[in-house]
Amino acid sequence: MSIKMIVGLQYGDEGKGRAVHYEAKQASIVIRATGGSNAGHTVVANGKKYAMHLLPSAIIRPEVLSMIGPGVVADLQVLTEEIKQMRDAGIKVERDNFVISERTHITFPHHKQLDRLYEMLKSNKVGTTGRGVGTTYEEKARRTNLRMHDLLIDSSELKNKIAENLKVYNVLVTEANKLIEQGVYQEDKFPIITADEEFEYCMTYKEAIKDYIADIYPILDKAIEKDELIIIEGAQSFWLDNDHGDYPMTTSSHPNASGTASGAGIGPTLINEVIGVIKAYSSRVGNGPFITEQKNEIGDKIREWGHEYGTTTGRPRRTGWLDLVMVKHTKNPSGLTSLCVNHLDTIGKLDKINVCIGYKYKGQVIKHVPIDKENCEPIYQEMKGGWNTEGATTFEELPKEAQEYIKFIEEYTGVPVKYIGVGADEKRTIIK
Ligand code: IMP
Ligand code: MG
Repeated sequence: MSIKMIVGLQYGDEGKGRAVHYEAKQASIVIRATGGSNAGHTVVANGKKYAMHLLPSAIIRPEVLSMIGPGVVADLQVLTEEIKQMRDAGIKVERDNFVISERTHITFPHHKQLDRLYEMLKSNKVGTTGRGVGTTYEEKARRTNLRMHDLLIDSSELKNKIAENLKVYNVLVTEANKLIEQGVYQEDKFPIITADEEFEYCMTYKEAIKDYIADIYPILDKAIEKDELIIIEGAQSFWLDNDHGDYPMTTSSHPNASGTASGAGIGPTLINEVIGVIKAYSSRVGNGPFITEQKNEIGDKIREWGHEYGTTTGRPRRTGWLDLVMVKHTKNPSGLTSLCVNHLDTIGKLDKINVCIGYKYKGQVIKHVPIDKENCEPIYQEMKGGWNTEGATTFEELPKEAQEYIKFIEEYTGVPVKYIGVGADEKRTIIK
């Protein structure tokens, strides 16, 4: 039996798509498990660049069944547009290679408004992607939100459910609009949203989506019985996890390995491999602690060379050195079996590279991550860079310093490196 999971270990955007794409070559199913259209996966294959928010990155492999799991929240408009965009690009998106769980929650227009409202009210802003993801999870937890299955129920019943779900939103924005009128906040007013409007939203996208909605459990059961390879595709990352990350500067779901297993509906004992993906440096989009951040020329160079701009929001990403203390911390909570290290080509352009191997914290040197990360100062080990990975197709063909960098990551974390990314195209992957 083989079930493998791919998760991010830093602040998202580690290049999980590369590992997914590689593992998917043998897979029968790839299932996306958490998050929503806040995610941005860029996959470069056959010289073409694909940016996806909801569809699993394996959608570009027609022989694989791509699934969206019950742990995901899906914006109907984004999903519909993404399906269309892929089809226009000649990528197959049919019922036999794509399904979405009937339990996947729906992100409605009012969720995006609520996202804006909460950020307006917060003094300590998270810097969300504004995609209404956290607010969908909130209403899911409140147990009023609707799921894909609801698109298929009787119209009057659907409208009633929508009306019920909108009650809290309309009470909140009525109060918020008073504060805006009083000049307390300089923000565009929030629209009152009617059940008819969100019913229309459902009807607009229902046609494009309805045939993909399925009960995923029998499909997974069959694949597990037949011993087929299933890949669980994570979104976001460990340090953005609502339980384990930099709360409150996190996302609203549980993109750590266990949350990702739950979001897919696959039990932990069935999972044979957990591949954690990191970049050879660090990046973060949105607010929150970032111990190794380089707000200087080095950070600017990494941003330019690594094209570190948000796939979803276009925001320039904050950049900095690789923090191995943070990476090692994730080893046991994730049950890591291997690592994928991306952007080894990018970091090698610098002659001297720093890697964080400990923190100065309250007068002590520590090698773990405390809850108050903002009180940590990084302790660096300097490594020799200045390498060029062009032409290298095996680990042995990499320049000596690049090999040393990878070995250092393995020794520090105690986790073997399986994949190394040395270029944006998935072909520029070295298997160690
Ligand atoms: P939200 O998930 O839109 O609520 O945003 C919460 C935080 O998570 C913000 O700092 C976002 O920038 C960050 N975030 C959410 N999704 C991603 C992602 O896919 N990559 C990187 N950061 C993300
Ligand atoms: Mg991304």
